[in-house]
Amino acid sequence: MAAPREQDQAAGILAPVSSQTVTRANDPCWCGSGRKYKRCHRASTDRVRPGQIGPRRRVPEGICQPDYARTGNPGTEDEPMVKPPEVLAAMRRAGRAAAEVLQVVGAAVAPGVTTDELDSLAHEECIRRGGYPSPLNYMGYPKSLCTSVNEVICHGIPDSRPLRDGDIVNLDVTIYLDGVHGDTNATFYVGQVDEASRHLVEVTRECLELGIAAVRPGRPLSDIGLAIETHASRNRLGVVRAFVGHGIGTAFHSRPTVLHYFDPSATTLMVPGMTFTIEPMITQGDWRHITWDDGWTAVTADGSRSAQFEHTLAVTEDGAEVLTSLA
Ligand code: MF3
Ligand code: CO
Ligand code: CO
Repeated sequence: MAAPREQDQAAGILAPVSSQTVTRANDPCWCGSGRKYKRCHRASTDRVRPGQIGPRRRVPEGICQPDYARTGNPGTEDEPMVKPPEVLAAMRRAGRAAAEVLQVVGAAVAPGVTTDELDSLAHEECIRRGGYPSPLNYMGYPKSLCTSVNEVICHGIPDSRPLRDGDIVNLDVTIYLDGVHGDTNATFYVGQVDEASRHLVEVTRECLELGIAAVRPGRPLSDIGLAIETHASRNRLGVVRAFVGHGIGTAFHSRPTVLHYFDPSATTLMVPGMTFTIEPMITQGDWRHITWDDGWTAVTADGSRSAQFEHTLAVTEDGAEVLTSLA
């Protein structure tokens, strides 16, 4: 989910720092300005700040809603990792719809557009397809879309902040359609974006592609994190550890947990019919995060930018089927 790992939540701490490059306060800024990082992109004046969050949007009666839409409580979310053919068929429909909504909302990204306007569009596009916007009231989440700008890693709440020229913004769309969820996200450029941010975004896109290419029945899930971490490290970028890919189907977040870094203890074997997301979050500096007082918005602790891409996929006899593709 970008779900916090249970063990990290329980411990209240994150995994130890790895040997990845960390941007320190007195290092030259990654943007090439020649200024110290602490005087440049880490400067607090430059950070994303919370805006106003608008009222909850309504969903028409005819739309089939998950149970948590009323209660805010998704329950145990436990279901078999390997899905029967009829669930896979529904997931192809939900996945395609999620990809379409992401494409429509992504096309609306421009300087001056507020993230709340993007939320409105995502909400209406889900409903137009007969689906429910899965984030809405999931564990009390107040909006229909996640919009994560610049140093926001994930779960940014759409608000009154207008996008600015030079921002990067991740849009995370999930739709509940035909009784199952389709979950996909991508990072978009707002106007002219600096070279270091474009490098971050393109490497992150490649990290997802390499993670998908590592999906193979009979292989352990750790292969996915190995492929992603290897590529990020080679580009001197960080891999966020506290948020992970997840099983998905009739439940939004379930087993298995999909790590985006290498952990040899991720020994669960991939099996045809297993469905999960891969959604690497990659940072320019340190991968550690803090959470805003809203309880949702996760930002890099050092203020460095973070990018993410996500697909929902199914393991096949010889690799992966991407369920959230437009094709
Ligand atoms: N779509 C996110 C994911 O990739 C989850 C968002 S949960 C929400 O798992 F409550 F923040 F919407
Ligand atoms: Co997800
Ligand atoms: Co998502």
